This record gives sequence, C-alpha cells and structure tokens, in this order.
Amino acid sequence: MFSLLLCILFAVISFALPLNSPLLQSYDYIVVVVGGGVAGLTVANRLSEDPTVNVLVLEAGPADHGEGIINVPGMIGDGMSTIYDWNLSSTAQISLDGKPRSIPQGHGLGGGSLINGMLWNRGEVDDWANIAALGNPGWTWNDMLPYFQRSERYWGLSSEELAVAYSIEANASVHGISGPVNVSFPSWYWPSSRALFAGLNELGIPTAFDPNAGQIAGASFLPISLDPVTGTRSTARRAYYDSVASRPNLWVATSQYVTQILFAGTSADLNALISTSNDVPIGGQGSSPGVPGGIFGQTDVSPSGSPSTRRRGLSLLQNLWHSLPRVLRRQNTATGTQVVRANGVVFAADAQSPREVVSATREVILAAGSLHSPQLLLLSGVGRAATLRQLAIPVNIDLPGVGSNLHDHGQVWAWYPYNNSAIATPLSLIRNSTFAENAWEEYNANRTGPLTSAAYDGVAFPALPFIVNGSTAIVDAATAQAAAQYLPSGTDGSVVLGFTQQLRLLTQALSDPTRASYEIINGNDGALTVASMRPLSRGTVTLNSPQPFEPPVIDPRYGSNPVDKQVLLAALRFNQRLIVTESMSQLQPLQMYPAADATDDELLQWIATTLETEYHPAGTCSMLPFALGGVVSPDLLVYGTSNLRVVDASIIPMLPAAHLQAVVYGIAEKAADVIRAANARDQAATSSTPATTPSPSPPTSSSAQSFFNDALVPIDPMTTFVTVVETQTVYA
Ligand SMILES: Cc1cc2nc3c(=O)[nH]c(=O)nc-3n(C[C@H](O)[C@H](O)[C@H](O)COP(=O)(O)OP(=O)(O)OC[C@H]3O[C@@H](n4cnc5c(N)ncnc54)[C@H](O)[C@@H]3O)c2cc1C
Ligand SMILES: *[C@@H]1O[C@H](CO)[C@@H](O)[C@H](O)[C@H]1NC(C)=O
Ligand SMILES: *[C@@H]1O[C@H](CO)[C@@H](O)[C@H](O)[C@H]1NC(C)=O
Ligand SMILES: *[C@@H]1O[C@H](CO)[C@@H](O)[C@H](O)[C@H]1NC(C)=O
Ligand SMILES: *[C@@H]1O[C@H](CO)[C@@H](O)[C@H](O)[C@H]1NC(C)=O
Ligand SMILES: *[C@@H]1O[C@H](CO)[C@@H](O)[C@H](O)[C@H]1NC(C)=O
Ligand SMILES: *[C@@H]1O[C@H](CO)[C@@H](O)[C@H](O)[C@H]1NC(C)=O
Ligand SMILES: *[C@@H]1O[C@H](CO)[C@@H](O)[C@H](O)[C@H]1NC(C)=O
Repeated sequence: MFSLLLCILFAVISFALPLNSPLLQSYDYIVVVVGGGVAGLTVANRLSEDPTVNVLVLEAGPADHGEGIINVPGMIGDGMSTIYDWNLSSTAQISLDGKPRSIPQGHGLGGGSLINGMLWNRGEVDDWANIAALGNPGWTWNDMLPYFQRSERYWGLSSEELAVAYSIEANASVHGISGPVNVSFPSWYWPSSRALFAGLNELGIPTAFDPNAGQIAGASFLPISLDPVTGTRSTARRAYYDSVASRPNLWVATSQYVTQILFAGTSADLNALISTSNDVPIGGQGSSPGVPGGIFGQTDVSPSGSPSTRRRGLSLLQNLWHSLPRVLRRQNTATGTQVVRANGVVFAADAQSPREVVSATREVILAAGSLHSPQLLLLSGVGRAATLRQLAIPVNIDLPGVGSNLHDHGQVWAWYPYNNSAIATPLSLIRNSTFAENAWEEYNANRTGPLTSAAYDGVAFPALPFIVNGSTAIVDAATAQAAAQYLPSGTDGSVVLGFTQQLRLLTQALSDPTRASYEIINGNDGALTVASMRPLSRGTVTLNSPQPFEPPVIDPRYGSNPVDKQVLLAALRFNQRLIVTESMSQLQPLQMYPAADATDDELLQWIATTLETEYHPAGTCSMLPFALGGVVSPDLLVYGTSNLRVVDASIIPMLPAAHLQAVVYGIAEKAADVIRAANARDQAATSSTPATTPSPSPPTSSSAQSFFNDALVPIDPMTTFVTVVETQTVYA
C-alpha cells in the first residue's frame, strides 16, 4: 500500500511526458526539431539534457510497436514498402534504362534506423579530411572520432573463436562503450562469408582490420546496430528517445507533418494554414512571386472558414512584432547584411487536417533527411530564386545550393547463385522449412542463430588500383572532365564551383591504393552487389508544385557521369575473377547474372538496367561555403538565417565510403555540441553588451537583398520574447 502511494507520488512529481503529450499553449526557449529520425532524435536528446531548454520533435511517421520487421535482424528488407517507408520514387533515370527507381526512406520515430540494413561504419580518415578541405574546418576524422564514440555502445566480438574464423579485429581505442546505440556482431555467420574473404585474400585484398578505425580499403565484417542480449535492432528511437522519454522538457509528437518553416517578418501565409480539399499553394493569392506578402499589413485572403483561433494566434504574433523594441529588430551589423530568423513551423497530421503553428523562440532544426529537408526549405522560400518564382513561392532567401549536389552510392545487382547445396545461405530461411523452423526456435529461445545476422555483414571495399591493371584509364577520364560537363544543364555557377573542388578530390581518391573505390555487398546467397563509393554523378531534389503534401521530385541522375559506369564495369569484371578463385569455387557459383560471356557493352547495359539506390542519398543541403553552392555553414546554420540549422544526411557535401547511419549519428552528436556552444556564446553576449553574433556569410544576391527590406528587419538572434503557439493538435 505504502509502495503504491510512493509510486503514485513519484509519477506525479516526475512530470513524465509520454509520447504525444498535448502540446502547451506556449513555450519559453524552445527548439523545434523537424523529423524524428537518426539525426533529429540524437539532437533532441542531447539538447534536452539541459532542463532549461524545451525541445519539441515533430515526426511525420508513426511510432513502431517492436514488430518483427523492426526488431529481427533476419527480417531486414521487410520494413520497406510498409508504413515505415515513405515509398518515394525517382524521376525516369535517362542515363540508365529510362525507368524510375524506388528510393526507400524511413518514416517513423527513428527514421531510417527502423528499416535499414544495420551496417555500422564511418568512412576513412581521408574522407573526412576531404570534407574539411571543402571549406569545413572542425570536420576532420580526429574531430569526428569523439562523436562517433559518443553514439555507440560497442560490444566487441561474441567469441574469440568466431573472431579468428572470420578475420574480425576490434580496436578498442576507436570505440565508445557507453553510448546509446548498441553496436555488436551477430552470433551467426553464413559459411559463404569465409570463402569470400579467402577468395579476396587470394587476389591480394587484405582482411582482418577494424573497419571503424579510419581505413576501409579491404574486406571486413561490419558490426551492426544490434542489441546482442535480446538479439534485436537498436533503433534511434530506442537509443535516443525511449531512454529519456520522461524528461519534462522533451515533447515528441508523431504523425505530424511539417509543411513550412516560418521566418520573422516573412509570410506566414494564411492560406497555408487552412485545410482545403486541394491545398492552396503557399504564397497563394495576395503574394506575387518574389514579393513576399508578409503577415504585416497583409489583408486576410483566406478563402473560407479560417479557424478564428488560428487567425488570433497570427495577429498576436503580429502585435508582438510591432511591440518589440527597435533594438531587437536591428540589422546584423557583423556583416552589414541582414539575416532572417526562423520563428516557427507549420504542421498538420495530413493534407485534410487543419494546419497548426508552433513558434520557436530559439532554433528550428531541420532533420527531415536528404530528400525532405531540401523540399521543406524550398516550400519555405529558401532556394534558388528563379526556381521558387516559377513555383509562385515567395523568395525568403536566394540559396541556389538547396536541392543540388544530390548523390548516392548507386549499387548494381550481380548474383552468382551457389550450386553447392550443402552450404546454408539466407535463402535457406525461405526455401528450407526445417532450417527456418530451427532458426526461429533458436531465436525465440536464445536470441542467437541465423536470425541475428544482417545477412550482408561480410563486405569488401576494394580500391580501384587493387582490381585493374593501370587503373589510370578511368582516373584519366575523370581528370579530363570539365566540372560542368555532366552536371544538369543550367546548374548555378556556385554549385559548379563546388563540384570542381569535389571532382579533384574524387579523382585523387579513385587513384589512391589506400582508399575504397567501391563496395562489394555480399548477400551470402550468391549476391555480390557492387556500389560506387566515389560517385561523380550529381542530381537534384526539386518541387513540382508548392503543395506541401506532394512528394519531392527526386532525380539522382544515376550514371549521368560515365566514369561511374566505368568503375562499376571494372567491379563486375573483378567479380568474375573473384568467383573463380579456389576458395570461392567450393561454393560452385553459377555465372548467369550477368552472363559469363557478357561483352563490355552488355555489362554496361546490365548496369543501366540494375543500378539502384544503396539508400544513401546525401548532399542536398551541403555543408560548403556559400560561394561553392553551400546551404549550411560548418556550424550547420542555413546561410542567411541566424537560427535555422540542418542536421541530417543532407549536409554531407561528399559521401564517405560508408553506410550512413553511424556517420549521421556522429554528425548529429557534433551538431548538438555546436548548438550548445552557440547558445552559450549568445548568452554571454546578452549578459554583457548586445555584441554582434557571429553568423555565416549570407547570400549576397540582389533578389535576396531586395527582400530584406526595412519593414522586415529580422530580430536579433538573442531575443527571448514570449512565444505564440497554436495548439489543439489532434493526434492520429
Ligand atoms: C532501406 C534502407 C537501408 C539502409 N541501410 C543502411 C545500413 O545498412 N547501414 C547504414 O549505416 N545506413 C543504412 N541506411 C541509411 C541510414 O539509415 C540513413 O542514412 C539515415 O537514417 C539518415 O538519417 P537522417 O537523420 O538524415 O534521416 P532519417 O533517419 O531518414 O530521418 C528523417 C526523419 O524525418 C521525417 N520527416 C521527413 N519529412 C518530414 C516532415 N515534413 N515533417 C516531419 N517529419 C518529417 C521522416 O519520417 C524521418 O523519420 C539505410 C537506409 C534505408 C532507407
Ligand atoms: C507505403 O506503402 C505501403 C504499402 O502499399 C503502405 O502500407 C504504406 O502506408 C505506405 N507508406 C506511406 C508513408 O504512405
Ligand atoms: C587502433 O586504432 C588506432 C587509431 O586509429 C591506431 O593508432 C592503432 O594502431 C590501432 N591498433 C591496432 C592494433 O590496429
Ligand atoms: C542495448 O542493450 C542493452 C542490453 O540488452 C539494453 O539494456 C538496452 O536497452 C539496449 N539499448 C538499445 C537502444 O537497444
Ligand atoms: C548443380 O549441381 C547439381 C548437383 O548437385 C548438378 O547436377 C548440376 O549440373 C549443377 N549445375 C550446374 C549449372 O553446374
Ligand atoms: C534443410 O535444413 C536442414 C537443417 O539445417 C538440413 O539438415 C537439410 O540438409 C536442409 N535441406 C536442404 C535440401 O538443403
Ligand atoms: C538454447 O541454448 C541452450 C544452451 O546453449 C541449448 O541447450 C538449447 O538447445 C538452445 N535452444 C535452442 C532452441 O536452440
Ligand atoms: C594484370 O596483369 C597481370 C600480369 O600482366 C595479369 O596476369 C592479370 O590478368 C591482369 N589483370 C587484369 C584485371 O587485367
């Protein structure tokens, strides 16, 4: 009885905030995080460690229920095309076979970590040196290593015997042992992995090194985001949210889709807040292209039945604005150019539901992933001015880099089915019911066995010089290119300049015998899929219309740079040598997909038909100097804003040779430190004189300038004025 009372008392005083607690009427000092995926939940967790900071995460997808497709490593792949996937597609890929490609992306609390392949690696020391060299001091391998370590709880190897048998090394000095994400090895290895590694050794490719120590060229077993005790997937939701769900200053709302970021002094267009059957474009009536309507002095143009509470909220915001002391609306004197301030976001459960507004006194952090973050910037009037005008979206910031520089590790399917039936493969789980029953029995009883394996964990990252004699032909072709040659026609000059820098670094990487050029993804069932680690092709994310509920237009332009196809061709030729090694021959691989006698032209045709995403889109909000087509500064601030950041895979300016989750966890851990440091600087600045806050160089184009007129002077980043929040959120 007494303990029951204690429990109740504890429950009352702990102020626990369960998932989807009703939002407050207003918040002080709130950071709004858009997207509760890998990066979003990491940042939300770290920032809410400070009890004086309120954090709200708005996630478009649902919270999972620990279903098999989420929890069981052996079911990897089954999460795609479910409610946990956005089901996005690319445009027709004209440099391939003219067909669109499906581009799965995580949709739910945990984002991609709910449905990904669980592989865990970080790229090479030189990959990060390159990212830093592109104009990002503070982003070298040595800078990142503490953040990689902070995110992981590394368990090492399950047994010494397995380590020896499968050439697995674990270098304790590069791992974290007390971070949130469980990182471990399965208790089961498919026997074909051993033959593959031996075959690679026969061809001079090294094995037996820790793939997370900064060198990846060679073959290695990657650890996976696995809780080895329960044999279940360690998602961003379990790692970074469940453990801190009871914090009273952390709000997380699922099934809430953000449609627009609002800026102080810019249009919170009323149309965007009203649910109509066919979604009135943002900007709508009353605002002509390029001339923002603005909520100040704007006549109410809402077509019908605008909920009065909503309008009241906006006029309150408007009144507050006018009551602000002039000093708080001053210009950014550091650069002499004005910088806009994000002060809230618009969101809704779906296209039919009423729009809600939540204001952000402190920051807005965009963490919606590589395809949705640029979409949301464009919807909010941040992007290339000419493009926005065509879409009738008022231009808030002319930022040509938004949605450009899209690249991915394109992968090409190759399958050499093993005819040796004595060897168990992941296909046995489908084709052999005895094997499958035993596997489930073992998994359920002991959480060991084949279902703890990610199936793809024995991989290789060959360097081009390992696999082709005189690899100079491919490198020479890359060197001879003009940067703009294979970029989309009409690419902004700054973006071309940025790619010029990348092309130089990519060419160096391709010629370097110590750096991975591509990956062999071993499916253990005969699949030896090959993926470019140094893609030269660049695509775009754009919009078809200003309707926020339409999917973004995704054109990765796979294969648009012919060098990518040449690397993949060399990789397929190397596969042919690999499967006839003595070690691999024991598996009796059949050479059919592609055919053994395929000519180069036929292999190029094979590439065009089978190339698809390796699920690593990046670069669409690149961290690069503004003059190089960048969208965010090394502090991840969007150029031209004082408090809008992007923290997700979209900021990666040039992909490392890695699967991306560990990379993104590391980026987000670092971002949290950057944000905390910036806040501390700001606080120090307010407590003394209102000093000029450092801000990234804003765009200087005339269209942006003309927008930053006096009537719309942004407020100082330090202002902590009372928040205006629209509430009554209805949860799905
Ligand atoms: C099928 C698949 C397999 C993969 N395999 C691996 C692997 O084996 N190893 C590896 O390291 N990486 C893998 N990845 C990649 C890795 O999971 C992603 O790179 C990583 O999740 C990116 O993190 P992020 O924070 O940028 O985006 P995400 O994790 O995708 O998070 C973005 C979140 O924002 C939400 N969102 C989007 N738009 C809005 C909006 N408008 N309003 C509100 N919320 C919004 C999304 O629903 C999502 O939850 C895989 C990815 C996929 C899809
Ligand atoms: C993706 O497709 C599946 C299967 O059709 C569907 O159940 C799911 O709801 C879709 N996801 C989204 C986010 O719409
Ligand atoms: C472990 O990693 C560190 C840092 O990269 C390196 O200096 C050291 O040589 C590595 N140790 C082994 C045994 O590989
Ligand atoms: C990590 O594993 C430990 C041990 O099973 C478990 O207690 C913890 O909840 C796990 N965390 C995640 C995020 O999987
Ligand atoms: C596959 O193996 C079977 C025997 O197990 C054999 O009869 C058959 O010829 C093999 N197929 C090929 C293409 O080698
Ligand atoms: C099916 O799996 C069982 C159990 O692992 C094994 O003994 C048997 O040989 C397999 N059958 C075939 C046809 O591979
Ligand atoms: C579970 O593990 C125990 C101890 O190793 C073993 O005896 C038992 O057979 C296992 N159960 C299954 C179903 O594999
Ligand atoms: C590379 O050269 C060696 C020696 O001339 C030759 O044996 C080998 O087959 C060549 N490899 C390729 C991929 O051309």
